Amino acid sequence: MPISEQQRELRNAFGCFATGVTVITTDGTDGSPVGMTANSFASVSLDPPLVLWSIAKESNCFDSFINTGHFAIHVLTNDQQSVSNAFASKENDKFASTSWHRDSNNTPLLEQYAARLVCSMASQHDGGDHIILVGKVEAFDYNSSAPLLFHGGCYKEISE
Ligand SMILES: Cc1cc2nc3c(=O)[nH]c(=O)nc-3n(C[C@H](O)[C@H](O)[C@H](O)COP(=O)(O)O)c2cc1C
Repeated sequence: MPISEQQRELRNAFGCFATGVTVITTDGTDGSPVGMTANSFASVSLDPPLVLWSIAKESNCFDSFINTGHFAIHVLTNDQQSVSNAFASKENDKFASTSWHRDSNNTPLLEQYAARLVCSMASQHDGGDHIILVGKVEAFDYNSSAPLLFHGGCYKEISE
């Protein structure tokens, strides 16, 4: 359904909030690697260690994420715009141009990131046209790479 003028304005207002960019991956319902770009990621709790993000109910990846026990969140680096674009596309093989491997739960892990959080599914909550997924962080890693930023519908670079 096409979005209304009011929804367009609301999306512009939401877009005033600057975020990082993540790619979130899981093992698909058919065993193929699945992933999508998401900027709805937020940290929630240190004890227990919880994070959240939301997935549009109309996403092709929706069934895979709703039915999985594990997913991995990759905070992208400044030079991963092409990775963000690939995982935000409807391409058949979004993983083709990036290095990755599977962990012991079969979750696909990208090898480049600013931070990587491997999560088990903790809970799911209805959120209108999205579902909010809460993950318990089971393992994580990070480095000093500059993060990719998103603001006003555009990628941004940190100027230091
Ligand atoms: C910067 C950026 C952030 C995005 N954040 C989200 C998000 O948080 N949740 C979501 O459902 N889609 C988000 N999207 C859109 C999805 O990445 C896009 O719809 C993708 O095609 C979904 O993949 P799929 O249709 O193969 O499931 C975002 C896209 C971009 C470029």
